[in-house]
Amino acid sequence: MQKFEKRLYMYEKVAEHLESGVHVIDSRGKTIIYNRKMREIEGMEIEDVLDKNLLDVFQFHSEEESTLLQVLKTKEPALNVKQTYYNINGIEITTINDTFPIFHEDSLAGAIEIARDVTMLEKMMRDNLHKRTNSLYTFDSIIGGHARLQEAVETGKRATRTSSPVLICGEAGTGKELFAQSIHNGSSRSDRPFISQNCASLPQDMLESLLFEGDENAASNSGKEHHQTLFQQAKGGTLLLDEINSLTTSLQRKLVNILQGSTDLPYDVRVIATVNEDPIDAIAEGRLLKDLYYRLSIVSIFIPSLRDRKEDLKELISFFISQFNHHFTMNIRGLTEETENIFLKYEWPGNVRELEHVIEGAFNLVGSDEIIDFNHLPIGFRQRLQHISSNPKVQEETDFLYQAGIDIKPLEVFVEEAETYYIQKALKHHEYNITKTAKSLGMSRQNLQYRMRKYGIERGGRY
Ligand SMILES: Nc1ncnc2c1ncn2[C@@H]1O[C@H](COP(=O)(O)OP(=O)(O)OP(=O)(O)O)[C@@H](O)[C@H]1O
Ligand SMILES: [Mg+2]
Repeated sequence: MQKFEKRLYMYEKVAEHLESGVHVIDSRGKTIIYNRKMREIEGMEIEDVLDKNLLDVFQFHSEEESTLLQVLKTKEPALNVKQTYYNINGIEITTINDTFPIFHEDSLAGAIEIARDVTMLEKMMRDNLHKRTNSLYTFDSIIGGHARLQEAVETGKRATRTSSPVLICGEAGTGKELFAQSIHNGSSRSDRPFISQNCASLPQDMLESLLFEGDENAASNSGKEHHQTLFQQAKGGTLLLDEINSLTTSLQRKLVNILQGSTDLPYDVRVIATVNEDPIDAIAEGRLLKDLYYRLSIVSIFIPSLRDRKEDLKELISFFISQFNHHFTMNIRGLTEETENIFLKYEWPGNVRELEHVIEGAFNLVGSDEIIDFNHLPIGFRQRLQHISSNPKVQEETDFLYQAGIDIKPLEVFVEEAETYYIQKALKHHEYNITKTAKSLGMSRQNLQYRMRKYGIERGGRY
């Protein structure tokens, strides 16, 4: 191989491995380099693009929209240009591009474009904009009279008077978003944006960009600059950061800095964060920075799980039935007694959201009947019930309770024995792994360790 060819070959290999898209055209607009990442971004095959004219391949609204062609014309670099366009498959793509003219011995030889893919980010920003109009819940929307739920509501209501951060803890589907929106709508910020972002649903680098790398003037700059950060979008309003424990430590630290005011955050934003586990566990196991916890938990709201407030079930059931009656213009009057008893016994791992879905499912199966019975319940739910009732572990537990019941003793003694027995069983099941056992028992590690000490339970085989 000639030295020059060899070098070209090596450069091509380098280009293939880059994480930015690279697209090089010659002075007539024909593609001569089109690397792997660029193909990935644009969903194109190399043979579709190579040696073809740009305008034949991509559908630009006008010639100006291609930065490559523009740079050929102006002979000036174009930096940080955001582009949204459709590729040959009609798929919308958004990139941020740096484009440079290439000169060879004083004459223009072509242009090179280096592109960062922000399609996902762009979609997220749009979703967030839509979400703004969606914060409709108020404290009146929160159903249930259980003391711990009411305590949570009271704490939430008090929090409407300040702008302090709020930490909302609760299992999946317990109403964390409902509480966050109620706080926002009950506060003086209610006419400002409510922006919500789930921290578990996006890659961390994207979140970092969304949270910290924005441009104040993005919105007014014809979309050619970077996006606004979530803080900028939520200006004057509320930013809900869902599942904050999914952020990496380094992002959590950055957030601490913002909340402490040690970076110059000129934005007046109330931050509400949620965790779907015990925050003390999350700290102990390295998923939540202690500093962040202290910053956020100025107001802490613990929403009880549905299985801990089953006395609210009836009210919730009527509430959802009347909602869906209204929604689907139907006239369902209630549940059969059998179904109600099943609901009362069930543990509702998906909490209120699961209940809502089960009832909605039943509306779809109820046909012309006015009362929901067992057979109208969604099949997935019925299968979960069957699984529980045929599960030998559950069987054993009820046998044990039954046997213990024969010999009546003070309730306290009975409860202690039952607890000891059950904790031992759970520990054995999880091979004496404290974290897993605690999780399966729905308690914190600290709580489990406390009980093990209290009841003198050995940690088992390995120690
Ligand atoms: N106390 C309640 N009263 C009425 N509706 C409720 C209540 N709690 C939850 N819901 C309803 O249940 C559904 C789930 O609530 P929400 O989205 O607020 O829960 P979440 O804790 O944010 O769930 P996830 O952890 O899955 O994000 C929503 O439709 C909400 O309206
Ligand atoms: Mg939620």
